[in-house]
Amino acid sequence: MDRTFTFAAYAGSLRKRSYNRMLLNALVKAAPQHVRVDVLEIAQVPLFNADLEDDPPPAVTRLRDAIRAADGLIIVTPEHNGTIPAATKTVIEWASRPSDDSVLERKPAAMLGASTGYYGTLRAQAALRQIATIEEVYFMVNPEIRVARAQTKFDERGELLDEELRTELTEFLEAFASWVRRFQP
Ligand SMILES: Cc1cc2nc3c(=O)[nH]c(=O)nc-3n(C[C@H](O)[C@H](O)[C@H](O)COP(=O)(O)O)c2cc1C
Repeated sequence: MDRTFTFAAYAGSLRKRSYNRMLLNALVKAAPQHVRVDVLEIAQVPLFNADLEDDPPPAVTRLRDAIRAADGLIIVTPEHNGTIPAATKTVIEWASRPSDDSVLERKPAAMLGASTGYYGTLRAQAALRQIATIEEVYFMVNPEIRVARAQTKFDERGELLDEELRTELTEFLEAFASWVRRFQP
């Protein structure tokens, strides 16, 4: 590639030992030379409140600005109760409002996720894709990364143990750069 791509990425979990955060950290490290992945910290982002839409808290403004400035958004989502958890969703809600200034509209995006179950966020990712139809987010179609049995994939320090997955993460970012390019003149 002849240019650099900057992606904003967040993990929809506030847990210190979050597998999705570990997966996001591994994604940052797996980035090819022409891709930079900037992690969005969401711990200070409150639950969405429409009363604050026009004058949001600073953490929300930072988040929205970073998504707007990035070439693409990457969402690393856990699965809770067969769907996306509140932490994943509240970021989407803040990003989408006010509706005439959504930073998600026509944003190229990609998703991946890790769960301790055997389906590796299959249902959460399906739910997230549905949001695309409402918000006009351009989610990458392929490749898909669903990390099942996440508790077996990382060591005590949170480092990725699975070499095949490491390669897949690099390929994922390469594919996303190509996907983003389709939407940029
Ligand atoms: C409230 C709750 C609901 C959950 N529901 C699911 C589920 O539907 N499917 C699944 O695979 N794992 C489920 N899990 C297990 C998660 O995959 C596991 O907690 C995982 O570690 C969450 O991601 P994190 O480590 O990034 O926080 C659930 C966990 C919690 C706390």
